[in-house]
Amino acid sequence: MTTSLVEVRGARKVYEHEGRSLEVLKGIDLTIEAGEMVSIVGLSGAGKSTLLHLIGTLDLPSEGTVKLDGRDVTAMSSSALAALRNRTIGFVFQFHHLLPEFTALENVMMPGMIHGGIARAQLKETATRLLREVGLEHRATHRPGELSGGEQQRVALARALVLEPKLLLADEPTGNLDSANSTAVHTLFHELNRKHGTTMVLVTHNHELARSIPRVITMRDGRIERDERQDAGAPA
Ligand SMILES: Nc1ncnc2c1ncn2[C@@H]1O[C@H](COP(=O)(O)OP(=O)(O)O)[C@@H](O)[C@H]1O
Ligand SMILES: [Mg+2]
Repeated sequence: MTTSLVEVRGARKVYEHEGRSLEVLKGIDLTIEAGEMVSIVGLSGAGKSTLLHLIGTLDLPSEGTVKLDGRDVTAMSSSALAALRNRTIGFVFQFHHLLPEFTALENVMMPGMIHGGIARAQLKETATRLLREVGLEHRATHRPGELSGGEQQRVALARALVLEPKLLLADEPTGNLDSANSTAVHTLFHELNRKHGTTMVLVTHNHELARSIPRVITMRDGRIERDERQDAGAPA
């Protein structure tokens, strides 16, 4: 029997707010295989970020299970969960959250420094290669304030990949970029998915860009409304 990378079963998420419960996810079943590239689309408030957080083990479901690589994360201790997350998952958010006082290269190296156990020379080599892959080798010694929004997001993408995660989760990674930069960043996601085989789940409300992704999951009001595979190529 093969194990899927992500298995969400019967996941519900309920928030208590001012004495009332708000059901934000109303029973999600979702399987994602290693190497897939998936987008999650839907109106604001549909539950996209909440679902991404469950997949990323940043939050746990109120009911149901989430399995990563066959391991039920809802049954793990928070320290085991943090270790699994660090080893398995890279995150890219709408706002890049780069550290302003460090260079681009140091920002990319940062998860490895925090993680520990990786020789600095090796880490630097990996980070340099990733900066090259996102087209920013020549900006390695620049600080975030000296980079454009698109360049900063490309640094954040390189940083998310430095520990070679199996799964990359991105929440509206181009939400803050103009259309030329959005297209460039999306093209990079495709290239990195092909090159590294990294499984990618991207929340986006950019329909143009979602159309380039082979599998599109549409959420509506806390449920998966559609789960479609399309014949998509990377944007030209
Ligand atoms: N911590 C929270 N407490 C209460 N309600 C929340 C919380 N987080 C999200 N929500 C609500 O859950 C719903 C879905 O949010 P979210 O997953 O962020 O949607 P999306 O990313 O699709 O815009 C929204 O109505 C939001 O207000
Ligand atoms: Mg969101």
